[in-house]
Amino acid sequence: MQGRSKEVESRATPAESITPPTEGSNGASVRKVWQHRHLLDLDTLSMDELELLLKTAETMQGVLQRDVKKVPTLRGRVIITLFYEASTRTRMGFEMAGKLLSADVINITVGSSSVVKGETLLDTILTLQASTADVIVIRHGDSGAPYMAARVLTHTSVVNAGDGAHAHPTQGLLDLFTVQKQLGSLTGRKIVLVGDIAYSRVARSDLWGFTRMGAQVVLCAPPTLLPWDLLNGRTECQGHPFSSVEIEPDLRKAARDADVVMALRLQQERQQAERIPSLREYARYWQVNEEVLSLAKPNALVMHPGPMNEGVEISSSVAHGAQSVVEQQVSNGLAVRMAVLYLLGAPREQ
Ligand code: NCD
Repeated sequence: MQGRSKEVESRATPAESITPPTEGSNGASVRKVWQHRHLLDLDTLSMDELELLLKTAETMQGVLQRDVKKVPTLRGRVIITLFYEASTRTRMGFEMAGKLLSADVINITVGSSSVVKGETLLDTILTLQASTADVIVIRHGDSGAPYMAARVLTHTSVVNAGDGAHAHPTQGLLDLFTVQKQLGSLTGRKIVLVGDIAYSRVARSDLWGFTRMGAQVVLCAPPTLLPWDLLNGRTECQGHPFSSVEIEPDLRKAARDADVVMALRLQQERQQAERIPSLREYARYWQVNEEVLSLAKPNALVMHPGPMNEGVEISSSVAHGAQSVVEQQVSNGLAVRMAVLYLLGAPREQ
């Protein structure tokens, strides 16, 4: 056994070097550009900070292409994932990202924690901080839960892995990263978000990210599924990132000349009242299918954050067709989550 672990150790040596960007796009040092202890949403991030995150994700993707993917960057750091809601991609992505950076990763599933004995979120996160967590990754059904955690924790970083219908910043980042990798740039790209935008935390974080990076976002949904609270006069406010956002309920018009068509799952678990007459009628008008895709640019990307309800918001042939980058979104998510954990979790220079 000992011989084998020596062999693994020596094979790991070439991967020990990792050179994440040392400066942001304006030449300022990373620690000057990145001053955040938490990642709660994309709304507070500047273009420079978003660019730094994307550049760091690019470096992490280089690491993922090596034979030995593990680097020692977060050795000795503790990351805890605390999920109050179901997840496949996000939780696996954070766990894998932390492990590839050599952090100790502990996953807490609420169903088998003291939460079932009535412990509050506040007591749970204070307990995790007291047990030396450096980063807590939280998913919670209530919008704002990770904000509360960030307010009370004095020396632990918080990453929002999805809070209610509010925000999902790492999904937003991986969507930006995927479009940039596939199309080379984000500026001026026509990104059509289709479906349940009102209740989709992904769409809300995407809106901040894509508009801040200069893309042109079109929201396409029945009026009952548009995020009127978020838009709230901002589309008319000159200079605001949302001033370029367009609303087009007709999918056949919205899809015309699109660079990206992103379908979103109907968040029926969050909708407070019936928002659509029937699934059949919804699919007839708002399903991303081959006919819709034929109206977009010839090589337009099809995206979906997953999990997909095939036959409702997206047809199976489009979901698994040549233009779909759904699986690339998942692999890019790993690089992006490594970048986020690196920027929040690496020991700070004095
Ligand atoms: C999304 C989520 O949980 O917000 N999934 C994900 O994290 N990839 C989207 C969804 O549930 O529809």
